[in-house]
Amino acid sequence: MTKSLKIDEKLEKYISDNSYDLHPVQKEIIKHNNSLGNTKKMQISVSQAYFLQLLIKSNNIKNILEIGTFTGYSALSMALATTTDGKVTSLDINKETSEKAESFFKKANLENKIKVILGPALDTLEGLKEEKKIFDLVFIDADKENYKEYYDLSMNLIKKKGFILIDNVLWHGDVADPVKNDRLTNIIREFNSLIKNDNRVEKTILPLGDGVTICRKI
Ligand SMILES: C[S@@+](CC[C@H](N)C(=O)[O-])C[C@H]1O[C@@H](n2cnc3c(N)ncnc32)[C@H](O)[C@@H]1O
Repeated sequence: MTKSLKIDEKLEKYISDNSYDLHPVQKEIIKHNNSLGNTKKMQISVSQAYFLQLLIKSNNIKNILEIGTFTGYSALSMALATTTDGKVTSLDINKETSEKAESFFKKANLENKIKVILGPALDTLEGLKEEKKIFDLVFIDADKENYKEYYDLSMNLIKKKGFILIDNVLWHGDVADPVKNDRLTNIIREFNSLIKNDNRVEKTILPLGDGVTICRKI
C-alpha cells in the first residue's frame, strides 16, 4: 500500500461524491465557482470544509472569524456547523465576490449568521482588536503576503484553547521542493517556520486540500 496519495481533481470529486450530502447552497456555490475557470481554485475543498465543520461541531464553536470570503463556500459551511446562536464574521476586500457570497447566504437563510466586512483585512482586524472582540476559531485564507500579520493579529483575537487554521501551507507541494524558490513559496516557507517556533500554540499541518495548519492556543 502506498504511504501517500496525490489528490487530483478526479479523486477530489470522488471524495465529494462518496462523502456526506452537501447543503443545496453549498452545491450551488461549487457550481458557480466551477463556472469561473481558474479562479475556482480559490475555494477550499469539500473535505477541508467537512473537517472545519467537524471541528466546529465537536468543540461547540460559536464565534468564528474568517479572513478571505471569496464567494462564500467556507463561510457558509462553517455557519451551517455552528450552534444556532453562532456567528461567522468574514473579511474580504473584493466587493463583487462578497456580494455574490451574501446572495448565497441569503438563499440559505443564513444572512443573520454571517456578516461580511468589506475592506483590507489588516485594517478590519486592527478594528476588531480595538473593539476587544474574541473568537473561538479563526480561519485564514486570504493574500499570502499578509499571512504573518493575519496570524499575529489573530492571536490577539482568539480565546485560550481556541483554534487558528491556515490554508495553503503546502503551496501545491512546492514548499518541500528545494528547486522552487519563487517569492510566494518562500513566504509560505517562512510562515510555516514561524508557526513551528511559536510556543503559544500546539500545531500540526494536515494534508487536506492545499495543506491546512491547525493551531490550538495554549
Ligand atoms: C482563497 S480566497 C478565499 C476562499 C474562501 N475561503 C472559500 O473557501 O471560498 C482569498 C480571498 O482573499 C481576498 N483577499 C485578498 N487580499 C485581501 C486583503 N488584503 N484583505 C481582505 N481580503 C483579501 C480575495 O479577494 C479572495 O476572495
